[in-house]
Amino acid sequence: MSTDDQLRFPDGFLWGAATAAYQIEGAPQADGKGPSIWDTFSHIPGKTWHGDTGDVACDSYHRYPEDVGLLQRLGVGAYRFSLSWPRIQPDGRGQANQAGLDYYRRLVDLLLEKGITPVVTLYHWDLPQALQDKGGWATRDIADLFADYAAIAAGALGDRVHRWVTLNEPWVVATVGYRDGRHAPGIADPAQAVAANHHLLLAHGRSVAALRAASPSPAQAGITLNLAIFRPVSDAAADLAEELDARHNGAYLGPLLRGAYPERLTADYSPAKVEGLVHAGDFGVITEPVDFLGVNFYAPLYAGIRQDGEPRRGEELIGPHEVLVQPEGMPVTAMNWLVDAGAFRELLVRLRDEAAGLALYVTENGSSWYDYVTQDGTVEDYERLEYLRDHLTAVHQAIAEGTDVRGYFAWSLLDNFEWAEGYAKRFGLAYVDFGTQRRILKRSGEFYAGVVRANALPGS
Ligand code: FCB
Repeated sequence: MSTDDQLRFPDGFLWGAATAAYQIEGAPQADGKGPSIWDTFSHIPGKTWHGDTGDVACDSYHRYPEDVGLLQRLGVGAYRFSLSWPRIQPDGRGQANQAGLDYYRRLVDLLLEKGITPVVTLYHWDLPQALQDKGGWATRDIADLFADYAAIAAGALGDRVHRWVTLNEPWVVATVGYRDGRHAPGIADPAQAVAANHHLLLAHGRSVAALRAASPSPAQAGITLNLAIFRPVSDAAADLAEELDARHNGAYLGPLLRGAYPERLTADYSPAKVEGLVHAGDFGVITEPVDFLGVNFYAPLYAGIRQDGEPRRGEELIGPHEVLVQPEGMPVTAMNWLVDAGAFRELLVRLRDEAAGLALYVTENGSSWYDYVTQDGTVEDYERLEYLRDHLTAVHQAIAEGTDVRGYFAWSLLDNFEWAEGYAKRFGLAYVDFGTQRRILKRSGEFYAGVVRANALPGS
């Protein structure tokens, strides 16, 4: 294979892997940690697959040196992980819990010692339960409380952490947490969901300012959105696809980039159309300039209309006549998510224009498959390897088309607690045997290490 066939990435491209606190740490009561909404929710019978909880997860609270060892085997230059807010402020307000901060300081120190840049997410869904008891993201006060927490984190870690992601996927928080109730806090109320949408963005803006003010060294800050490509399956579904795009992408990108919610959204989806929700000056806060935009991508969505209101096999009813469709013949992952790297390229190129001037980082991308350990003790996950190769090719193409993508973080470093899916769904580049906590780097992990080493995809 000649090296000319290789798809080389730009010099300095940041390669990484990602995780989130509740999905890997375990130790829910260690060193003064308070309960989070996920501690509560996962213990309610019927809320997660098999009743799984994050009580132990990957036990990374204790095994983090081993996990840093995995990062070294991948050879990545960066690790994206999240802080558990209730480890740092057990009730979500007031004085910091030093023991919680110390854990993250130990982790960060070890990363730096190994030459790995920490990229820290402040909020990856584990809200302190005490704040949810007062209404959580549906209340306006939370924006200031979140900024206080951001200031504590930046004050304690900002001498060695220089890159911060404020929120992970606020659409999921508002929609799956407060509209559908399939995630913690398990609320199914459109009014709370639309309020959460706005308060999350307000919290983001306030926390960017707070991070910069409190950090002892210059802090770069951004937000991570799960942006999606919606494709209509027929002409009749074209308007639906646009509507879904506005709810999913526009309700976040609009305020962040342009200081406005999409005009077409109704009051069920637009904070701007709810009396008293948006205050004067809010968009000034939300548009606080960021240093980058984090993009999480997994799969495109296909929108269709069923006049009879009857979803067919594999379809999900999302309105009286509206469905999400799985086009026949398209491959799906263990999550039932479509595999379509072309949609990823399309999304990135769209952001080149829509978020022009903003550096992009792919902060998550990956896939779940039914992995197993062979008799030789290896995990031969060729489907994940192919997904990874094809999606990295898409990133490479987007860059060639002028998109400013600065880095890529694989989801995930290791198999972990996949929220409502519990441990049934594996996304790791490393396999975790949850009975023994043994980690095994999968075939896809070996492949990724090769890409990182070469800063290039192998030629075909
Ligand atoms: C994303 C989440 C991440 C993980 C992946 C599969 O929406 O940010 O925690 O669950 O999906």
